[in-house]
Amino acid sequence: MKCFAMAENASYLDEKAKIEKRVEDLLARLTLTEKFKLLSSHGRLRFYTTGPIKRLNIPSFKMTDGPLGVAMHSSGFKKNTRFPATIALAASWNRELMRDIGTAIGEEVRAVGRHVLLAPGINICRTPLNGRTFEYFSEDPYLTKELAIPFVKGVQSQKVAACLKHYAANNQETDRKSSSSEIDERTLHEIYLRAFREVVKEASPWAIMTSYNMVNGVYASENKYLLQEILMDRWGFDGLVMTDWFASRPIKTTDSCVNAGLTLEMPWPSKYKTKSLEKAYHDGKFTEKILNDRVRRNIQVMMLTGLFDSPESLPDCSRNTREHQDLVRRAAEEGMVLLKNKGSILPLDMANLKRIGLFGHNLRKKFGRILSGGSSAVSPPYEVTPLEGLKKKVKNNVELVQDGRLVDLAIIFAGLNHGRGGDSEFADRSSLRLDEKQESEIKKVASENHQTIVCLIAGSPIAMDEWIDDVDAVLMCWYGGIEGGHAIANVLFGDVNPSGKLPLTFPKRFEDSPAHSTNNRRNYPGDDQKRVYYDEGVFVGYRWFDAKNVDPLFPFGFGKSYTKFQFESIQLIKDSIENPEDTMVVEMDVTNTGNRAGSEVIQVYAKDAIAYADRPPQELVGFEKIHLNPGESKSVSIKIRAQDLAFYDVSKHDWVIEAGEFKLLIGKSSREILGEINFVYG
Ligand code: BGC
Repeated sequence: MKCFAMAENASYLDEKAKIEKRVEDLLARLTLTEKFKLLSSHGRLRFYTTGPIKRLNIPSFKMTDGPLGVAMHSSGFKKNTRFPATIALAASWNRELMRDIGTAIGEEVRAVGRHVLLAPGINICRTPLNGRTFEYFSEDPYLTKELAIPFVKGVQSQKVAACLKHYAANNQETDRKSSSSEIDERTLHEIYLRAFREVVKEASPWAIMTSYNMVNGVYASENKYLLQEILMDRWGFDGLVMTDWFASRPIKTTDSCVNAGLTLEMPWPSKYKTKSLEKAYHDGKFTEKILNDRVRRNIQVMMLTGLFDSPESLPDCSRNTREHQDLVRRAAEEGMVLLKNKGSILPLDMANLKRIGLFGHNLRKKFGRILSGGSSAVSPPYEVTPLEGLKKKVKNNVELVQDGRLVDLAIIFAGLNHGRGGDSEFADRSSLRLDEKQESEIKKVASENHQTIVCLIAGSPIAMDEWIDDVDAVLMCWYGGIEGGHAIANVLFGDVNPSGKLPLTFPKRFEDSPAHSTNNRRNYPGDDQKRVYYDEGVFVGYRWFDAKNVDPLFPFGFGKSYTKFQFESIQLIKDSIENPEDTMVVEMDVTNTGNRAGSEVIQVYAKDAIAYADRPPQELVGFEKIHLNPGESKSVSIKIRAQDLAFYDVSKHDWVIEAGEFKLLIGKSSREILGEINFVYG
């Protein structure tokens, strides 16, 4: 390819030339028909690749799902490392870990010869019933963006395009292809677009995927307000915009998509058939300038991912390595959230246990099967189940029994799976509770045993009122990926001290959460016209529970530890700030006063003391995770950006930080605040 290029003096193939020059050079060589071809994937059986253009040596551009690692269905049926589910990663509250995970997934994408990773999914968890909660980060836009930014940077460090999805307001699976998310302007920006905006601004993702749904009556793939006006013009996004798979089908016209800003239709042409594009163009429905902009974006990302470059110039790649497997274990451990630990029953002490009884649906379950749970499914070369993890941990020191014999302690592995109606694409959950069989099993086991621990393997909140008082401990394990079983055993036996914090509220009953509080179809799953009204406005997740004084089962940011942490001398380094670009630093001394090493996440929430808008009682604006040995103290600094204090003012159609008094609330969870500081903005 190179020789041909050099002979022709084609600078788009010159690896040393500047990207912009290469892009313009290629753009100038394309015929009109070739430009049209580049706006869609071609070829019926090719779900994840675009067609090549032989005349110009443009190879196929290849994508793969997804957030949990490289999916089998989109990588030529390859088995790859299955990483913890996004919600589990988010529960780690660890930015560096997210960068490492992004980098490792990027390496695997490259190792299967793909150029785009269809991840991260950064939709906000509006309802705990959303079937895809496990693929998303949080109910909070700040936490979402803080963790998605390093993930995107990690992926792209491998010259693999990260593709943010699903833009925008795709917050339920029920009727996802035909419903309209009806959202007022402030809520749209402040809650549902905020993480997209910040990730675009700070991590410059090379691609974004439109959602299936309509937003305020217009499909996302032809939504000029969302794409051209907000994403491109206001936020300066210069990457490509692809549809979700077949998302453009119900749209009526080709030109509405082109003019809105859609640059790549997947997985094959519907609105972007060459003939339709040709007709619309010749009828003057879109200009050459617009067409060039759409094509330019696609070829620029091709360039950025090294599509035209020699393999030697690309980063080294590898998959299924020991490093990736170790990383998965570490990430699964860091994300686990200890929800209950009566009488410090955990960690288990092997020396005091002779026989453990094991129960539950998920004890021997492997989760990584092709398309199980939808597009995010990754089929790994192996997967350690909880049973295998525990066997390896206890060796011959403790007897593990599964037949209900008399034991010292019972552990039940309950939860969900990736079947439809569970943690899965295409459908939402129908209940927040476990199925009756599992609830009865927990109650039975707890009544027959002296001590009972419940390990929940699931990717979304679970109501526990029916049984939580009967059991001694509850550990939220999420889906830990290939090394999940080892990670669980390490936490149960105290080799690792749990440090995960809930990235979303666990309600007692689903009716307690904002989308369900009215029990009116218009709020969920939609009225007769499939319009879903987000009437709760910005009061999503803990913002709702706090404002309405509803007690959650477990609050946002909550998670216990095997040790104790003390915060002292909390102070603000600067007690006034003036401009949106300014930052402040909250400082404190944190001491591990227990007898085990462990990590704590110090969380900072802001409250606009006197606000002219109706603002939530508190909003997350900063956090840091630190590790401390027993007795060790560290001084911790948490940076707070003034911009994160802003709200979206509809009268200005922009973000505003109101001058005046604010409070910073510093704590271990949204409901365990240990210190307060006042400051003035402006
Ligand atoms: C999902 C996307 C996914 C795409 C390609 C769709 O069903 O919504 O998240 O990337 O399929 O597999």
